Amino acid sequence: MFAFNFNKIAMPIFYGKVALNTFLKSVKKQNTSIGFVPTMGALHQGHLSLMQQSLKENQYTVVSIFVNPTQFNNPEDLSKYPRTLEQDTEKINDLDPEIIIYAPSVEDIYEGNVNAESFDFDGLENQMEGKFRPGHFDGVGTIVKRLFEIVQPNNAYFGEKDFQQLQIVKKMTLKNNLAVTIVGCPIHREANGLAMSSRNERLTAQQREEASLISQTIFKTKELFKNKSPAAIKEWVAEVFEKNPTFDLEYFEIADEETLNPCIDPEKDKKYRAFIAVFVNNIRLIDTISLK
Ligand code: PAJ
Repeated sequence: MFAFNFNKIAMPIFYGKVALNTFLKSVKKQNTSIGFVPTMGALHQGHLSLMQQSLKENQYTVVSIFVNPTQFNNPEDLSKYPRTLEQDTEKINDLDPEIIIYAPSVEDIYEGNVNAESFDFDGLENQMEGKFRPGHFDGVGTIVKRLFEIVQPNNAYFGEKDFQQLQIVKKMTLKNNLAVTIVGCPIHREANGLAMSSRNERLTAQQREEASLISQTIFKTKELFKNKSPAAIKEWVAEVFEKNPTFDLEYFEIADEETLNPCIDPEKDKKYRAFIAVFVNNIRLIDTISLK
């Protein structure tokens, strides 16, 4: 559990909210800022980049590692989700042993009631991931709100890889008047362009190579968006994946960054993004890119 880095001794892992909360209260003085990076573990460079940003901007950084059951609409996805606490701890300690790790049990979070709250995210929850993963964002809202109550961070860091989640967390924070600043961080990619994801662990080396078609395709849509309609681009993307039996396209959408409503006729002063979800051998991968 303990590792050494530049002669610093690693923090012990907190498995319970009471101990974590007591510890954080003891260090939190006026003007101390706490940065928080919620994760589900199986950490990769994308997660670590969020932690690096938090380390730069706060005196204390807390990372949670918790595979949240209420946000999985597919039981197989939940049971197969990689759980690698030991390796995760090593990676965090190598980055900075002073990072505070919170790795709770389901009981510590849900206290016998493993159910999601119902949220109204002003329609953000009805698009894309929300359409194809019913209940997913209620689960995300529930866990993020609970973790914010436990950690009481000043700043919380979320990846643009899950852009819809980032917008939903911002909305939840605003609607509940929570005193947390939500910081969006850029997508970290493999050398071949594939967006880093814990689910990539489940791909073979060959599938991982082939999966770069997903990012290559959305990069190309950025070019096409300059002079083609969203409908024509959607048709082109559908054709790209139809031709290739390795992939099963779930959705490709061009949407307004703020409302996440589909874009039919682009307006000059609005920001748009391309969003995609594709199955590669039953493993669901998502990606997104700003079209500005
Ligand atoms: P998880 O998938 O573990 O991701 C944790 C954070 O890392 C999220 O904010 C996600 O957007 C970010 N992230 C993942 N891959 C990234 C990449 N390639 N580049 C940059 N950031 C990346 O998202 C969740 O967990 C959960 O829904 C959670 C918010 C923890 C709630 O359970």
